[in-house]
Amino acid sequence: MLSWFAALLAGIFSAHLAQRLCFPYFWRDARYLMKVIRYGARLELYKRTRKVITVVDRFVERARRTPHKPFIVFNGVTSTYGEIEARSNRVARVFERAVSKGDTVALLMNNEPDFISVWFGFAKLGCAVAFLNTNIRSRSLLHCFNCCGARLLVVGADLLETLEDILPSLQEDNITVWCMKREISHPGVHSLLDEIDQASDDPVVSDRSSVSCLKTPTLYIFTSGTTGLPKAAVISHLQSLKAAGGFWAYGGTENDVIYTPLPLYHSAASLVGIGGTIELGATCILKKKFSASQFWTDCRKYNVTIFQYIGELCRYLCNQPVAENEKDHRIRMAVGNGLRQDVWREFHRRFGDIRMCEIYGSTEGNLVFMNHIGKIGAVGRSNFLYKMIFKYDLVKYDMIRDEPVRDQNGFCQRVEKGETGLLLSKICSQSPFFGYAGSKQLTEKKILRDVFVKGDAYFNTADLMAEDDENFICFKDRVGDTYRWKGENVATTEVTEILGQVDFIQEVNVYGVQVPGNEGRAGMAAVILRPDSIFDGKKLFDYIMKELPAYARPLFIRLQESMEMTSTFKQQKFSLVESGFNPSNINDPLYFLDYTENSYIPLTSSVYDSILQGQRKL
Ligand SMILES: *[C@@H]1O[C@H](CO)[C@@H](O)[C@H](O)[C@H]1NC(C)=O
Ligand SMILES: *[C@@H]1O[C@H](CO)[C@@H](O)[C@H](O)[C@H]1NC(C)=O
Repeated sequence: MLSWFAALLAGIFSAHLAQRLCFPYFWRDARYLMKVIRYGARLELYKRTRKVITVVDRFVERARRTPHKPFIVFNGVTSTYGEIEARSNRVARVFERAVSKGDTVALLMNNEPDFISVWFGFAKLGCAVAFLNTNIRSRSLLHCFNCCGARLLVVGADLLETLEDILPSLQEDNITVWCMKREISHPGVHSLLDEIDQASDDPVVSDRSSVSCLKTPTLYIFTSGTTGLPKAAVISHLQSLKAAGGFWAYGGTENDVIYTPLPLYHSAASLVGIGGTIELGATCILKKKFSASQFWTDCRKYNVTIFQYIGELCRYLCNQPVAENEKDHRIRMAVGNGLRQDVWREFHRRFGDIRMCEIYGSTEGNLVFMNHIGKIGAVGRSNFLYKMIFKYDLVKYDMIRDEPVRDQNGFCQRVEKGETGLLLSKICSQSPFFGYAGSKQLTEKKILRDVFVKGDAYFNTADLMAEDDENFICFKDRVGDTYRWKGENVATTEVTEILGQVDFIQEVNVYGVQVPGNEGRAGMAAVILRPDSIFDGKKLFDYIMKELPAYARPLFIRLQESMEMTSTFKQQKFSLVESGFNPSNINDPLYFLDYTENSYIPLTSSVYDSILQGQRKL
């Protein structure tokens, strides 16, 4: 009897030990998976009952239950759930008759509480809202209107000036422009503030906002495409609800105070940040712009417990001079993406034990990875159950030809464990891909067909990843015609198009090069001049400053006599990327975008060294 008991005890003990040794992450994996499944079940219920509780519905519910709870704190001013609810009702009242359910309206605003009030106001009328990137100018901005079909634009008070040159075109297209300003000197632009003051804050009939299908578009978020101008990714309620679960899945609660210094027109701040705050019923400290010097002061002042980041942001914080009290804060976790291993370690060393939670997922993509274990350097973690929920694969990729490797039957090949491959995510009813507004062609370009069997379809993430023996997934690089710089995607074709209009340039090839100590890739353009023309660095500088946002400006120019004709365009690009911007390895003349001289200046060895030492504004 006793021996039987001892054997049982020993058995339990060794099973426990084996589990601890072989599956050190078992319980954390299990807990995380339970959350994923629970959340998925809720979405499934919406599908079955054809009644979707949207993010805005949840907000209204929160506002009813806890009207006095702070929702947004901006520049020291607190807006409660109840106040934003009332203000968004006023916005809805103003436009009640002007727009119909299913219309699209555009929003061009910097971070401020009214961004959210206007967004929710239109959502309550059943409209889809297109968030415009506030860095985008003139021609690109007009294009954004055309592709999402918006008939109405709301613009922030501080951004009306930037519209100056396209206002006539907008009015020609019968797009009504409303501004969050009282006295407006521009003809044809209406003041929204005056109207909001006079409107009632009674909610509009709930019919207007009711949603029966998860796939109904709710937002358009612009992303740099692989071709030309920005593309409007269609965000359905399904995606917005999934993103809103991010903080919760990582263990956020209603007592958390979330710091969001990222722009609201991106999905990270709006879907994960604001949506996630509502999901928890927490408070969001919204910043107009990230400031490394104010960061810790803000976090202490507001008792921040969670902040949102992109990799660059953490690096800027690490580059700040060491302060004595820098471990003195209440931050317990940070949610974001693109954190490099070295920055991650340094961040822990400097600022203490903050759990860094990576979320991988593009705005338009149908796949999400979360690194719930917090292993340094990983963007996510997989296991066989996760693979049943999210059907993704890593396939072999030919860097030189810039396309997936196909075998003799034309099918892709999965990589071995540890090997780097292109991340593809299967498109099916569970994880649909909603594509881009207004262009079937662009949508089709992101889809890879006949991958493993005839007729299948995968979303091409354009990201190279590797999965290690412990099932951690690590980001390696981006492929194709985009690169990331300063937290934004840059489309090489868009930059090419802009550069191609300069009168002394005949041919352009744009690509990204790595600059040691910086995330992503900096823009570089190989250029052939027109016959009998000379390179005018000052003129090019002025033109680039006017036409391109900071993150998209090519930092380096390489003058070439001719493009190598023997290789394909892609091969050529590959060798240009490989050779970088070091003047001692390159015979062609090189130029550098210099903000102090307001010109493109010759890239000499000493300029090169000062860039590597971080002494130049990039
Ligand atoms: C704008 O509205 C006017 C008057 O209603 C109409 O004649 C014109 O065709 C419209 N233009 C466009 C581009 O829709
Ligand atoms: C932060 O926490 C301290 C101590 O609990 C409290 O006294 C202070 O009022 C809090 N600040 C804010 C802005 O909530």
